[in-house]
Amino acid sequence: MILETERLYLREMKQSDFNSLCKILQDEDTMYAYEGAFSDEEVQEWLDKQIYRYRKWGFGLWAIVLKETHEMIGQCGLTMQAWKDKEVLEIGYLLERVYWHKGYAIEAASACKKYAFEVLKANEVCSIIRDTNIPSQNVAIRNGMALKDSWTKRYKNVDMPHHRYVAYRDTD
Ligand SMILES: CC(C)(COP(=O)(O)OP(=O)(O)OC[C@H]1O[C@@H](n2cnc3c(N)ncnc32)[C@H](O)[C@@H]1OP(=O)(O)O)[C@@H](O)C(=O)NCCC(=O)NCCS
Repeated sequence: MILETERLYLREMKQSDFNSLCKILQDEDTMYAYEGAFSDEEVQEWLDKQIYRYRKWGFGLWAIVLKETHEMIGQCGLTMQAWKDKEVLEIGYLLERVYWHKGYAIEAASACKKYAFEVLKANEVCSIIRDTNIPSQNVAIRNGMALKDSWTKRYKNVDMPHHRYVAYRDTD
Protein backbone atom coordinates (compact mmCIF):
# COMPACT_ATOMS: atom_id res chain seq x y z
CA MET A 1 0.00 0.00 0.00
CA ILE A 2 1.30 3.48 -0.90
CA LEU A 3 -1.29 5.72 0.75
CA GLU A 4 -4.30 5.42 3.00
CA THR A 5 -7.19 7.85 3.51
CA GLU A 6 -10.42 7.60 5.48
CA ARG A 7 -12.29 5.51 2.86
CA LEU A 8 -9.58 4.52 0.37
CA TYR A 9 -6.17 3.11 -0.15
CA LEU A 10 -3.82 3.60 -3.08
CA ARG A 11 -1.54 0.82 -4.29
CA GLU A 12 0.46 -0.02 -7.39
CA MET A 13 -1.50 -1.56 -10.28
CA LYS A 14 -0.69 -5.02 -11.56
CA GLN A 15 -1.70 -7.21 -14.51
CA SER A 16 -4.66 -8.67 -12.59
CA ASP A 17 -6.18 -5.15 -12.52
CA PHE A 18 -6.67 -5.24 -16.31
CA ASN A 19 -10.44 -5.84 -16.14
CA SER A 20 -10.99 -3.08 -13.55
CA LEU A 21 -8.91 -0.77 -15.72
CA CYS A 22 -11.09 -1.58 -18.74
CA LYS A 23 -14.17 -0.43 -16.81
CA ILE A 24 -12.54 3.01 -16.52
CA LEU A 25 -10.61 3.40 -19.78
CA GLN A 26 -13.22 1.85 -22.06
CA ASP A 27 -16.05 4.10 -20.87
CA GLU A 28 -16.85 6.85 -23.42
CA ASP A 29 -17.99 9.39 -20.80
CA THR A 30 -14.95 8.90 -18.59
CA MET A 31 -12.61 9.15 -21.56
CA TYR A 32 -14.01 12.18 -23.35
CA ALA A 33 -11.02 14.28 -22.32
CA TYR A 34 -8.81 11.63 -24.00
CA GLU A 35 -10.77 11.68 -27.30
CA GLY A 36 -12.67 8.47 -26.66
CA ALA A 37 -12.65 5.02 -25.12
CA PHE A 38 -9.50 2.87 -25.32
CA SER A 39 -9.13 -0.45 -27.15
CA ASP A 40 -7.83 -3.51 -25.22
CA GLU A 41 -4.36 -2.81 -26.67
CA GLU A 42 -4.43 0.80 -25.47
CA VAL A 43 -5.49 -0.33 -21.97
CA GLN A 44 -2.55 -2.76 -21.88
CA GLU A 45 -0.14 -0.01 -23.04
CA TRP A 46 -1.49 2.29 -20.31
CA LEU A 47 -0.99 -0.42 -17.65
CA ASP A 48 2.54 -1.20 -18.90
CA LYS A 49 3.37 2.52 -18.78
CA GLN A 50 2.36 2.78 -15.12
CA ILE A 51 4.42 -0.30 -14.21
CA TYR A 52 7.38 1.24 -16.07
CA ARG A 53 6.84 4.49 -14.17
CA TYR A 54 6.83 2.70 -10.77
CA ARG A 55 10.24 1.23 -11.67
CA LYS A 56 11.71 4.43 -13.12
CA TRP A 57 10.38 7.04 -10.67
CA GLY A 58 8.99 5.09 -7.73
CA PHE A 59 5.54 6.53 -8.48
CA GLY A 60 2.90 6.61 -11.23
CA LEU A 61 -0.86 6.41 -11.43
CA TRP A 62 -1.91 4.10 -8.61
CA ALA A 63 -5.08 2.03 -8.16
CA ILE A 64 -7.71 3.62 -5.90
CA VAL A 65 -9.25 0.84 -3.81
CA LEU A 66 -12.38 1.19 -1.71
CA LYS A 67 -11.57 -0.03 1.81
CA GLU A 68 -15.11 -1.22 2.39
CA THR A 69 -15.23 -3.64 -0.58
CA HIS A 70 -11.55 -3.96 -1.66
CA GLU A 71 -12.70 -3.04 -5.18
CA MET A 72 -10.56 -0.94 -7.52
CA ILE A 73 -12.72 2.10 -8.33
CA GLY A 74 -10.28 4.36 -10.15
CA GLN A 75 -6.76 5.65 -10.50
CA CYS A 76 -4.96 8.55 -8.91
CA GLY A 77 -1.30 9.30 -8.56
CA LEU A 78 1.77 11.25 -9.53
CA THR A 79 3.48 11.29 -12.92
CA MET A 80 6.06 13.39 -14.72
CA GLN A 81 4.44 15.23 -17.64
CA ALA A 82 5.75 17.41 -20.45
CA TRP A 83 4.68 21.04 -20.06
CA LYS A 84 6.04 23.58 -22.54
CA ASP A 85 9.83 23.12 -22.41
CA LYS A 86 10.03 21.21 -19.09
CA GLU A 87 8.83 18.17 -17.16
CA VAL A 88 6.53 18.77 -14.22
CA LEU A 89 5.16 16.65 -11.38
CA GLU A 90 1.44 16.09 -11.90
CA ILE A 91 -1.46 14.69 -9.90
CA GLY A 92 -3.87 12.80 -12.17
CA TYR A 93 -7.19 11.11 -11.41
CA LEU A 94 -9.76 9.02 -13.28
CA LEU A 95 -12.66 7.28 -11.58
CA GLU A 96 -15.05 4.61 -12.81
CA ARG A 97 -18.24 6.51 -13.63
CA VAL A 98 -20.46 4.89 -10.95
CA TYR A 99 -18.10 6.29 -8.29
CA TRP A 100 -18.27 9.96 -9.36
CA HIS A 101 -19.85 12.59 -7.08
CA LYS A 102 -18.92 10.86 -3.83
CA GLY A 103 -15.80 12.85 -3.01
CA TYR A 104 -13.41 9.97 -3.77
CA ALA A 105 -11.34 11.90 -6.35
CA ILE A 106 -10.60 14.80 -3.99
CA GLU A 107 -9.88 12.38 -1.13
CA ALA A 108 -7.27 10.56 -3.24
CA ALA A 109 -5.86 13.71 -4.90
CA SER A 110 -5.29 15.53 -1.61
CA ALA A 111 -3.40 12.49 -0.26
CA CYS A 112 -1.22 12.58 -3.40
CA LYS A 113 -0.49 16.28 -2.86
CA LYS A 114 0.62 15.54 0.70
CA TYR A 115 2.81 12.68 -0.63
CA ALA A 116 4.40 15.01 -3.24
CA PHE A 117 5.33 17.60 -0.59
CA GLU A 118 6.16 15.34 2.38
CA VAL A 119 7.66 12.22 0.79
CA LEU A 120 9.02 13.45 -2.56
CA LYS A 121 9.88 16.88 -1.07
CA ALA A 122 8.60 18.58 -4.24
CA ASN A 123 8.37 22.37 -4.13
CA GLU A 124 5.33 22.40 -6.40
CA VAL A 125 2.84 19.99 -7.88
CA CYS A 126 0.23 20.57 -10.57
CA SER A 127 -2.78 19.13 -12.39
CA ILE A 128 -2.88 19.56 -16.17
CA ILE A 129 -6.45 19.57 -17.44
CA ARG A 130 -8.22 19.98 -20.76
CA ASP A 131 -10.01 23.36 -20.86
CA THR A 132 -13.40 21.70 -21.34
CA ASN A 133 -13.01 19.33 -18.36
CA ILE A 134 -14.76 21.27 -15.60
CA PRO A 135 -15.24 18.40 -13.04
CA SER A 136 -11.51 17.76 -13.12
CA GLN A 137 -10.69 21.47 -12.73
CA ASN A 138 -13.02 21.56 -9.73
CA VAL A 139 -11.04 18.74 -8.11
CA ALA A 140 -7.80 20.74 -8.66
CA ILE A 141 -9.32 23.86 -7.08
CA ARG A 142 -10.67 21.84 -4.14
CA ASN A 143 -7.14 20.41 -3.85
CA GLY A 144 -5.78 23.90 -3.10
CA MET A 145 -4.42 24.58 -6.59
CA ALA A 146 -4.74 27.81 -8.58
CA LEU A 147 -4.69 28.35 -12.35
CA LYS A 148 -1.13 29.16 -13.39
CA ASP A 149 -0.93 28.98 -17.21
CA SER A 150 -2.30 27.35 -20.36
CA TRP A 151 -0.86 25.45 -23.32
CA THR A 152 -2.24 23.62 -26.32
CA LYS A 153 -1.17 19.97 -26.48
CA ARG A 154 -1.59 17.82 -29.60
CA TYR A 155 -3.01 14.37 -28.76
CA LYS A 156 -4.51 11.84 -31.21
CA ASN A 157 -4.10 14.52 -33.95
CA VAL A 158 -6.36 16.97 -32.10
CA ASP A 159 -5.28 20.34 -30.69
CA MET A 160 -6.36 20.40 -27.06
CA PRO A 161 -5.99 23.55 -24.96
CA HIS A 162 -4.95 22.57 -21.41
CA HIS A 163 -4.82 24.54 -18.16
CA ARG A 164 -2.20 23.95 -15.48
CA TYR A 165 -3.32 24.31 -11.85
CA VAL A 166 -0.46 24.52 -9.33
CA ALA A 167 0.02 24.23 -5.55
CA TYR A 168 3.25 25.20 -3.76
CA ARG A 169 4.74 23.52 -0.70
CA ASP A 170 5.67 26.79 1.01
CA THR A 171 2.19 28.23 0.85
CA ASP A 172 0.32 24.99 1.52
C1 LIG B 1 -12.47 14.13 -12.70
C2 LIG B 1 -13.24 13.15 -11.81
C3 LIG B 1 -12.27 12.17 -11.18
C4 LIG B 1 -13.98 13.98 -10.73
O1 LIG B 1 -14.75 13.11 -9.91
P1 LIG B 1 -15.79 13.72 -8.81
O2 LIG B 1 -16.45 12.58 -8.19
O3 LIG B 1 -16.60 14.80 -9.47
O4 LIG B 1 -14.81 14.47 -7.82
P2 LIG B 1 -14.82 14.63 -6.23
O5 LIG B 1 -14.21 13.48 -5.56
O6 LIG B 1 -14.17 15.95 -5.94
O7 LIG B 1 -16.34 14.65 -5.83
C5 LIG B 1 -17.04 15.86 -5.73
C6 LIG B 1 -18.51 15.57 -5.71
O8 LIG B 1 -18.79 14.57 -4.70
C7 LIG B 1 -19.76 15.11 -3.75
N1 LIG B 1 -19.50 14.45 -2.46
C8 LIG B 1 -20.27 13.47 -1.92
N2 LIG B 1 -19.73 13.03 -0.78
C9 LIG B 1 -18.59 13.73 -0.59
C10 LIG B 1 -17.59 13.71 0.42
N3 LIG B 1 -17.66 12.88 1.47
N4 LIG B 1 -16.54 14.56 0.32
C11 LIG B 1 -16.45 15.42 -0.74
N5 LIG B 1 -17.38 15.48 -1.74
C12 LIG B 1 -18.45 14.64 -1.66
C13 LIG B 1 -19.56 16.60 -3.86
O9 LIG B 1 -20.71 17.28 -3.43
C14 LIG B 1 -19.35 16.76 -5.35
O10 LIG B 1 -20.59 16.59 -6.00
P3 LIG B 1 -20.94 17.26 -7.42
O11 LIG B 1 -19.92 16.74 -8.41
O12 LIG B 1 -22.30 16.76 -7.70
O13 LIG B 1 -20.80 18.73 -7.22
C15 LIG B 1 -14.29 12.36 -12.65
O14 LIG B 1 -15.19 13.26 -13.22
C16 LIG B 1 -13.62 11.54 -13.75
O15 LIG B 1 -13.12 10.43 -13.52
N6 LIG B 1 -13.65 12.08 -14.99
C17 LIG B 1 -13.10 11.40 -16.14
C18 LIG B 1 -11.59 11.29 -16.15
C19 LIG B 1 -10.92 12.63 -16.20
O16 LIG B 1 -11.33 13.51 -16.95
N7 LIG B 1 -9.87 12.78 -15.40
C20 LIG B 1 -9.09 14.00 -15.34
C21 LIG B 1 -8.14 14.10 -16.45
S1 LIG B 1 -7.25 15.63 -16.36
